[in-house]
Amino acid sequence: MNILILGGGGREHSLAWAVKQNPKCDRLIVAPGNAGIAGIAECADLDIEDGGAVAVFALENAVDFVIVGPEAPLMAGVADRLRDAGILVFGPSAAAAQLEGSKRFTKEICAAVGAPTAAYGHFTDAEAAKTYIRTQGAPIVVKADGLAAGKGVIVARDEATALAAVDDMFGGEFGKAGTEVIIEALLQGEEASFFVLCDGTTALPIGSAQDHKPVGEGDTGPNTGGMGAYSPAPVMNAEVTDKALSQIVTPCLAEMARRGMAFQGVLFVGLMIEDEQPRLIEFNVRFGDPECQVLMMRLGAQILDLMLAAAEGRLSEMRANWADDHAMSVVLAARGYPGNYIKGSVIKGLDAFPDTGMEMCFHAGTSEVGGQIVANGGRVLNATARGSTLVEARTRAYAMAEAIDWPEGFYRSDIGWRALKQD
Ligand code: AMP
Ligand code: GLY
Repeated sequence: MNILILGGGGREHSLAWAVKQNPKCDRLIVAPGNAGIAGIAECADLDIEDGGAVAVFALENAVDFVIVGPEAPLMAGVADRLRDAGILVFGPSAAAAQLEGSKRFTKEICAAVGAPTAAYGHFTDAEAAKTYIRTQGAPIVVKADGLAAGKGVIVARDEATALAAVDDMFGGEFGKAGTEVIIEALLQGEEASFFVLCDGTTALPIGSAQDHKPVGEGDTGPNTGGMGAYSPAPVMNAEVTDKALSQIVTPCLAEMARRGMAFQGVLFVGLMIEDEQPRLIEFNVRFGDPECQVLMMRLGAQILDLMLAAAEGRLSEMRANWADDHAMSVVLAARGYPGNYIKGSVIKGLDAFPDTGMEMCFHAGTSEVGGQIVANGGRVLNATARGSTLVEARTRAYAMAEAIDWPEGFYRSDIGWRALKQD
């Protein structure tokens, strides 16, 4: 079959790498793709947030299946336009994508089914929000309701910080995302991400991961999109997984279906776990980046069969086959990220890695200029490996990171520290 993947980061490189290994995949196109993806697929220049344009492209190229990587096209209704055009697509409708696009929407779904999550208040004016903060006291969490590129969450240790965050949000710091604000209790425990494929009614778990958002060693400094990830997350044991499914995922999916917004695609379940009790922090409606890279490393080619089953409503027939292994991804970023960084520096040493299925250097922000690979983003490469233990996966991933000749880049040397401390 002919397959089109939308997106151009490390997440989409890992999806393309896994999908390409499946014998069902004849032609693989990625839009827009990047320099690494160009090595395994055709790259197409396409406005991936324009559903009409994507549908025309898919029909012209006899595409049988479209996989949507990032959230922006989903929120823009690209999956709806493709389904209207009769094209099979993996990814939720714009209505169902509100599970990521509106924190208030998700809170209401949780409240309707009693799914465990932080107690909260929802506000459209600053004075009421501040009164709530003064009543509840600190620590407390202030969130812009809409998408704010991962920056609309302030975990306030004291009341003054929380009150200032309210002023910033209603003052327009996060644009439209901040015209509604959620204020919620601080959850204690350990965070983990849990990934579940959904076909509208059935939920199929495909693994867990933990990422490292802060830029600096020891989880210090400003937050990024993620400086590394590993899978599985030790805290997601069988009991926690069962509770996350039975108390959160299954009832929320049923409520979505009841509202006529059945969710199809991958649900990224962000959890806080304390004493083996998971509580929902947030849903995302797409794979995490770099969490996807470690999941694809472990799942391989079967992900295409599972995504097809999700899109066709056949997930109840499927199961994910797990090797009892571990994977780690180390992000190489441009110096200065997440602040200002320069683009265009040349990266060498990428030809050195054999494609063994045990390790893969996924490209996140690269392009090819005059036969050379250059950095064109903040997060640029993902040195990703698997092993029979997390230590083995880490050794392989860091050997790759060290072998890459890119003086203008940097990476954290302590990815996985929390999980490794437990061994
Ligand atoms: P979100 O964008 O909702 O994922 O929030 C970003 C990060 O803020 C999460 O990954 C958590 O580390 C933290 N966070 C958000 N909400 C809470 C909460 N209620 N309690 C504790 N930490 C939170
Ligand atoms: N790595 C976090 C995310 O993709 O949202």
